[in-house]
Amino acid sequence: MLVRDFNLFTSPGMVPMANGDPHAAVARVHGEPYIFYSTCNTRDGRGTWVITRACDQRKVLEDAETFSSHRSIFSSALGEDWPMIPLELQPPTHSIFRALLDPQFSPRRVIELERNVRQQASAMIELIARSTSCDFMRDFALPFTVNVYLGFMGFSNSRSDELIRWVSDLLHGNGAKRTEAAQSIVNFIDELAAMRRNQPAADFMTFVVQAQVEGRYLTNEEVRGIGVLFLIAGLDTVAAALGFDLAYLARNPEDQESLRREPTRIATAVEELLRAYSTVQIIRVATKDVDFEGVSIRKGDLVSCATMIANRDPAEFKCPDTIDLARKDNHHIAFGYGPHLCLGANLARREIAIGIQEWLARIPTFRIKEGTVPITHGGHVFGVKNLILTWS
Ligand code: HEM
Repeated sequence: MLVRDFNLFTSPGMVPMANGDPHAAVARVHGEPYIFYSTCNTRDGRGTWVITRACDQRKVLEDAETFSSHRSIFSSALGEDWPMIPLELQPPTHSIFRALLDPQFSPRRVIELERNVRQQASAMIELIARSTSCDFMRDFALPFTVNVYLGFMGFSNSRSDELIRWVSDLLHGNGAKRTEAAQSIVNFIDELAAMRRNQPAADFMTFVVQAQVEGRYLTNEEVRGIGVLFLIAGLDTVAAALGFDLAYLARNPEDQESLRREPTRIATAVEELLRAYSTVQIIRVATKDVDFEGVSIRKGDLVSCATMIANRDPAEFKCPDTIDLARKDNHHIAFGYGPHLCLGANLARREIAIGIQEWLARIPTFRIKEGTVPITHGGHVFGVKNLILTWS
């Protein structure tokens, strides 16, 4: 009775499709049962429990002892076993690494990074503005987020195309292509770490190779685990958010105009767009048999906390399917919840807000190009494959 024919990969709205709306599809799972079992709900075809209510997702996500994130999903693709740090660490080691890394993403530090973010955005959009149409994902969202990452890590934009290809093959490719991409990413991070050991600079990788925890330097594997996570966590997510946001604005010219007229409203609008178009499905593993809200979850079972489901919970948000760019008390969990709350949330928020602000300042009223339709997909990270925009 608790098994339901629904998953984030192949249910209607999830496979890459024209004019798809994966968020509307997930919004429909609300109602009883609040927790159900989906027999195939991960990229590699495994079943998971699906927690639909926001209040229950918070209970799972704050209890890292019972619901662990320790899975080594990246290194296992290479037949290895090292954690992405801090995501796949358990307490108390997790908090030691959070204490080390948190200051690198404080609001103050993000203000320092903003100059580069704005420069990257404005230079790219200025080029795009010379034309009257673009493929938003290819021409802006992906290169923008990759360049911000490269600048932050200490590399020039020259590696941008390679990185976009590797991340895409890793997240959306299969078999050999995926393993090859994982290996290229590891080689890239190892190369960057070696470079910064020899030639320190004012960047994040230099900080990591010089950092100490409990009176010792980080091991090569720890440096790699941090470098790889920041690449995976920060690229697809921000690009996807920008894609969904611009698709929404292209379809809603009044909202577009009002943000163009009053850019101070963009920060609040970004929160609502993060809520309504959340992109990340979080997976946990039960570390013991547990009775959770009346459901027997067995040790080793996977538990899905899809943020896009929680953020459309009618018990949590008034009219959850209505997008209100001035929504108040917007306590969404697009960035997760509990000890693994997104470390890059401050930076991500600014990247999205600056991207939208610079876009609206340089591109006149835009719309989806006639004869084209955006292609969206579900999955562990929801996304937009292409979005052709036009303006006159
Ligand atoms: C819109 C963009 C983003 C979204 C929606 C997002 C979402 C999330 C979510 C839901 C988690 C929790 C995962 C879990 O509990 O298993 C998370 C963790 C994390 N995110 Fe983000 N993220 C975004 C951007 C970024 C950026 C730009 C960075 C880095 C620069 C970043 C770095 C991280 C890290 C390091 C963690 C792991 C934190 C920990 O385990 O303690 N994220 N993110």
